[in-house]
Amino acid sequence: MSNNMENILRKEEFDFKDIVALLQAEGEDQKLLFAKAQEVQLKYVGKKVYYRGLVEFSNVCEKNCFYCGIRKDNKKVDRYNLNDEEVLEAARYAHVNKYASLVLQSGERSDVHFINRVDKLLKKIKEITHGELGITISLGEQSDETYAQWFQSGAHRYLLRIETTNEVLYKQIHPNNDIHDFENRLRCLKAIKKIGYQAGTGVMVGLPWQTFEDLARDLLFMKEMDIDMCGMGPYIEHHETPLFGNKDILWPRQTRFSVTLNMIAVLRILMKNINIAAATALQAIDPMGREKALRVGANVIMPNITPSSHRKDYQLYENKPCIDEGADDCGDCLSLRIEMAGREVGLGEWGDSKHFLKRKK
Ligand code: 5AD
Ligand code: SF4
Ligand code: FES
Repeated sequence: MSNNMENILRKEEFDFKDIVALLQAEGEDQKLLFAKAQEVQLKYVGKKVYYRGLVEFSNVCEKNCFYCGIRKDNKKVDRYNLNDEEVLEAARYAHVNKYASLVLQSGERSDVHFINRVDKLLKKIKEITHGELGITISLGEQSDETYAQWFQSGAHRYLLRIETTNEVLYKQIHPNNDIHDFENRLRCLKAIKKIGYQAGTGVMVGLPWQTFEDLARDLLFMKEMDIDMCGMGPYIEHHETPLFGNKDILWPRQTRFSVTLNMIAVLRILMKNINIAAATALQAIDPMGREKALRVGANVIMPNITPSSHRKDYQLYENKPCIDEGADDCGDCLSLRIEMAGREVGLGEWGDSKHFLKRKK
């Protein structure tokens, strides 16, 4: 097998079958894949790892994704909404600690009140940080107008995971209605890119019924869409969700973890200069999960800077790390972890996707 792996890794371009084989790599083969990904990473994006301070500002969500712990119908969740001052405080924290970038994330809402509130927050954050803090938003599916409005107000990167590019699987993990429509999600991703955001997407790895072929197609989709950033994490079942009923057909957690690393490594080789995040969900399976990702291609990490009092209420999956920690704990902890992974923190730099900068030239 190793011989075959070496042959594949030597190619300039992978075909579909190559990618499927790479995603299945284990043992010695996996080591070869990781070594190649690491080589590409160091050559094209270097040793630096960029921080994005993550603020989960509200867990109110109008959607009902079958996999997610804060879905609308989960009545066991205490819903919260940080006030403006709490969000601005988190932004100041990121700025003072030279995180250089912020990610605003929340459950999905598309009412006018929400849209205007986000707009106001974006402008205010830009103002109090003298335009120095980069802002990424991860606020789901919106109209083209809303995306454009938020872009005007200061957000310059957008994360919207496609979750899976297999439409049949997409339907299996979402309710079948207008607000959970695969075509609309595609429309959104295209709009985000067209408006001028650095566009990020990603998938969950190890969903029930998902195959290696699906995952290979997910990577080819990212290449085809010419995305700038990616975040991929293992799917982790949550008791209070409909998909929990399918837990018996899941790959073992370690397999989901290992295949997620393979996805990151292969993506790094396929798209050499994009930004790839070491997803927090990796650490829900392996205590060193994020460090491992940094060694095989990931170059962005998102320290949680949500006020501690609300962290426990933002559990999209179970076993989420950092629930009891504060912003300082996570910052210190991560800088140590990054060092252990043989990487450097790129403090005070926006760390924009090199791919995006090149695309814009
Ligand atoms: N396991 C792993 N990831 C999840 N997400 C939502 N629920 C889960 C889960 N149970 C991911 C989705 C979403 C992102 C914000 O979190 O990919 O886009
Ligand atoms: Fe809401 Fe996002 Fe969870 Fe879906 S994944 S239920 S949109 S928070
Ligand atoms: Fe939060 Fe380590 S990153 S405690």
